Amino acid sequence: MRTQVGIVGAGPAGLLLGHLLHQQGIDSVIVENRSQEYVIERVRAGVLEQGTVDLMMQMGVGERLQQQGLRHEGLYISFAGRRHHVHLAELTGGKAITVYGQNEVVKDLIGARTATGRPLYFEAAQVAVHDLDSARPRITFQHGGRSEEVTCDFLAGCDGFHGICRPAIPSSAVKIYEREYPFGWLGILAEAAPSCEELVYTSHERGFALFSMRSPQITRLYFQVPPEEDIGKWSDDAIWDEMLKRMTTADGWAPNTGRILQKGVTPMRSFVAEPMRYGNLFLAGDSAHIVPPTGAKGLNLAASDVVVLAKALTSFYRNGDPVLLDRYSEICLRRVWKAQRFSWWMTSTLHRFPDAAEFDYRRQLADLDYLTSSRAAMTSLAENYVGLPMEV
Ligand code: APR
Ligand code: PHB
Repeated sequence: MRTQVGIVGAGPAGLLLGHLLHQQGIDSVIVENRSQEYVIERVRAGVLEQGTVDLMMQMGVGERLQQQGLRHEGLYISFAGRRHHVHLAELTGGKAITVYGQNEVVKDLIGARTATGRPLYFEAAQVAVHDLDSARPRITFQHGGRSEEVTCDFLAGCDGFHGICRPAIPSSAVKIYEREYPFGWLGILAEAAPSCEELVYTSHERGFALFSMRSPQITRLYFQVPPEEDIGKWSDDAIWDEMLKRMTTADGWAPNTGRILQKGVTPMRSFVAEPMRYGNLFLAGDSAHIVPPTGAKGLNLAASDVVVLAKALTSFYRNGDPVLLDRYSEICLRRVWKAQRFSWWMTSTLHRFPDAAEFDYRRQLADLDYLTSSRAAMTSLAENYVGLPMEV
């Protein structure tokens, strides 16, 4: 098989890239190792920045997002038993975020890909990339009992943090910046109507907690736990007990409880691989960088990477101009590092660190008090939360 751009991974990064290229008449093959059902069912984050929503609308894949996405013009920061409102739209000239599950985004993009008739392979085994620094890089894989080979002009490594593309780069050609946090999040999906119309980020002496949602019937909740926490240790009753201890505010607000539909623990890390290119392999999304989920930036960074990559490839195929491809990594990394900074700040301001002194906790509370009483500080939070501009 021959194509222009070989894409490894059918998460948000790979699928968005494939569709952006399709709209420019650029040919691609997407190779995914999981099944379609697995990719669609996988429950992940759910906050779309204004720019990501605008992108999906412009791409013509925003119909269900417009119908079912929950537009939020604000959020709450809760500490010392009180919720404080941050009016995102008022502070950013009308920008907002939209709550829409990543799996819904993926479902819409798979539908759009399928409608184009361009190749998308699920359940590909032994996926490997070759000849990265040549003019004809290749992807090989097994599919339905056959060996397949795709010869490409360029490869896009959209295969997430545990994929095979980043490890295929010689270690001397990439520098890793990394931080692990001494906690993870225990997350649940519950059959309960959201008791607040916006997200609530809570700092509590027992640790961080987050109130979110997926629909008018489904609440999504998280709380901070040790990084290797065994989910088996947590009965549903114990989860609700802890959730309510951390989230209930002095005015009596608390999440509605209900049947727990899904539960799991995710570790938290910050990670950046630089540069995001080796030869004709371009990394995009989680394969190049991971943020802790506190800033809700992961999916949005995947989107901004592939916008840059699609523009760069378009400019190459239209005008033979490689300048944007050469600047791909530098352009993406400026935005990535700002999202890293913001995600780190949200994480370190709202969580309890196991080795922290009482001084640190008091300083965090002062930080939150300042944040919620200063328009300047709230504006800074708001402009980062709704998303910094996607630059090209
Ligand atoms: N071969 C083919 N596909 C692979 C391989 C492989 N060896 N390894 C992983 N994949 C697939 C995964 O199954 C997944 O579908 O690559 C895809 C990567 O998708 P994501 O992990 O969703 O990453 P990305 O598309 O960059 O999107 C970033 O994902 O982790 C979340 O919170 C993060 O929302 C952010 C988003
Ligand atoms: C979610 O709804 O899953 C969610 C919301 C906000 C975050 C992280 C996750 O910061």
